[in-house]
Amino acid sequence: MGNRKPLISGNWKMFKTCSEATEAASQLAKLVGGVSDREVMIAPTYTSLALVSAAVKDSIVSVGAQNLFWEDEGAYTGEISADMVTSAGCEYVIIGHSERRQYFNETDENVNKRIKAAIKGNLKPVLCIGETWEEREAEKTFSVLDKQVKKGLEEFSLSDLGSLVIAYEPVWAIGTGKTATTDQAQDVHKFLRSLIKEMYGEELAESMRILYGGSVKPANIAELMSMPDIDGALVGGASLDPETFSQIVKY
Ligand code: PGA
Repeated sequence: MGNRKPLISGNWKMFKTCSEATEAASQLAKLVGGVSDREVMIAPTYTSLALVSAAVKDSIVSVGAQNLFWEDEGAYTGEISADMVTSAGCEYVIIGHSERRQYFNETDENVNKRIKAAIKGNLKPVLCIGETWEEREAEKTFSVLDKQVKKGLEEFSLSDLGSLVIAYEPVWAIGTGKTATTDQAQDVHKFLRSLIKEMYGEELAESMRILYGGSVKPANIAELMSMPDIDGALVGGASLDPETFSQIVKY
């Protein structure tokens, strides 16, 4: 796996109130206290970001936002900027999650703008991509991912992308209990790494972390992480309970 430091991240989606999030984050920080050879990130809802950041402050856990808007500020009711999430203690930001694409009309074009804003604001973007079941059945997986990566990263130069993380999340495996087999996931991760190599060269391709997401749990994380091109996980449901998530972190 080269010298890529694994990143185990938790996407809390629209779960947990402020007090529940703070409590879970404090517990997680304690549970992963001894871990040093991997990074841990959790992405709570916007309203809990600052509280969670304070709760994990002296631990190895870092915090991510689940999205951002690309403008710096302005009359955009309900939106939030890169500077705002940074000021709430975020280091990472998840962009283009399939639920955003599916329910909130996010497109490759506006995902591109969000990544641009994240990089400008010194946040580390986690670009989410993935095919639906119909696309996989029609053997379109690689062409769908190729388009999502190329459009998502349009007009970026090599120097912009040092902190980019890609999360491959097959839409059919999210929250369904169906996980891609480790071989299916590895095939895609290998394809993505070669695509990044073709676009930006070997150095970035070798250093970029490519995470797998979709029904990751304590029982399947070790096998996924044994694959040469899988550098971590983006965990939804199984990240909500600190004890379960800490088992994934310590795979
Ligand atoms: P899941 O979600 O682990 O609940 O399948 C993953 C994700 O959506 O990031």
